[in-house]
Amino acid sequence: MKIKSIKGTHDLGPDECKNWRQVENILHNFFEIHGYNEIRTPIIEKSDLFNRVIGDQTDIVNKEMYSWIDHSGDSLALRPELTAPTVRSFIQNSMDKLRKVNKLYYIGPAFRRERPQKGRQRQFHQFGVEAIGSENPEQDAEIIAMSYNVYNMLGVENLSLILNSVGSKQTKAKYSKILKQYLTKYINDLSRVSRERFEKNPLRILDTKIDKEIEIIREAPSILECLDENEKNHFKKVQRYLNKLNIPFKVDKNLVRGLDYYTLTTFEVRTSNLGSQDALCGGGRYNNLVENLGGNSMPAFGFAAGMERLLMALNLDSQENEIKTSVFIISVGEEAILNALKICDSLRNQLGIKVLMDFSRASFKSQMRQANKLNSEYVIILGEEEIERNVGVIKTMSSGEQFEAPLDTIHKHFDVEFNEDK
Ligand code: HAM
Repeated sequence: MKIKSIKGTHDLGPDECKNWRQVENILHNFFEIHGYNEIRTPIIEKSDLFNRVIGDQTDIVNKEMYSWIDHSGDSLALRPELTAPTVRSFIQNSMDKLRKVNKLYYIGPAFRRERPQKGRQRQFHQFGVEAIGSENPEQDAEIIAMSYNVYNMLGVENLSLILNSVGSKQTKAKYSKILKQYLTKYINDLSRVSRERFEKNPLRILDTKIDKEIEIIREAPSILECLDENEKNHFKKVQRYLNKLNIPFKVDKNLVRGLDYYTLTTFEVRTSNLGSQDALCGGGRYNNLVENLGGNSMPAFGFAAGMERLLMALNLDSQENEIKTSVFIISVGEEAILNALKICDSLRNQLGIKVLMDFSRASFKSQMRQANKLNSEYVIILGEEEIERNVGVIKTMSSGEQFEAPLDTIHKHFDVEFNEDK
């Protein structure tokens, strides 16, 4: 029986890899010009990192995390997100000693055992940023604007930015009580999952996707009413800065997000082009996380985005990302192949151009077809007869012009051709 890939995981074929690389390059540049530096952390971590950071009553940790007991007896996990590992690394490497505000970005795989569907995989990839050290609203505004602008710049349409503030830990606790009071009268109308959340983590009910529950929470008291003066002020300033940056947003009092670490601002960018999995990215402030993981008390703000969802929204043409074939070498016979290998080697390594030859010992005609199909700029013909005379034929494909050149001068011809082009 053939072995197939695991449900919810995908191969990226050569065409997709070209598109991914193009987008990754743009992202690296985008983050660098904003002053963010790349970090790469391991894919496996201690499970405890995520239990403590994301919250053991969240779906991500409770139901979706791939974790197992290692031979050493430690519980390990495949990372379901990259914020916790980034903060773990920040603390472990004492990055707070480097500068007051540390700005980091990442691109890499994450794993969640969710029910696979369009836009939702079990292995997916996230890119995102984490800025650790600033409690100020300009930091919120910078990152929210970045998350919106990156999609705009790449040409994703029908974007919407949803904004909320969940306040401090104390505010969340105060609001949880008020929300529970409100929901008590609807308890029999709630699903089993929401009734469980009612006991353990009532805020998560605001995230429901069930129509009947959406109706109920529409009328629920607003967390924004529970914010204290400082928290209200912070939220007002974030909105003021976003307005100044011309970033359109909508406040939604029910945006709580599926991870427990948020304090104050939360946000998501969505697009109506993606169907039900419409969240392109999400993030917010998390002022308690660094301390909770044993670091010094430090405010932080970040966002993460799904690569697959971005690529789906972009629908790129891989052909445009193909390096064009400069030269195709047609070789017939043992000696010709030997010389073709040598010419490939020198043109590629000394001129850095894309040079291809045939490896299936196909007929002359078939090799010419390959050269045409690849839209090669030039073809070098090394037939048995040419090799006997120690020459090759160089043909310009666009004009059909061709001439013979001694084998050991072929390299020079392209040296002139491609260096002049530069
Ligand atoms: P999150 O909302 O859980 O936040 O994930 C961020 C993004 O990752 C989502 O908006 C979505 O595009 C993508 N994503 C999540 N799960 C899947 C999946 N199963 N398949 C495909 N794409 C998926 C976080 O992970 C937080 N760490 C964000 C953050 C960073 N907050 C502060 N800093």
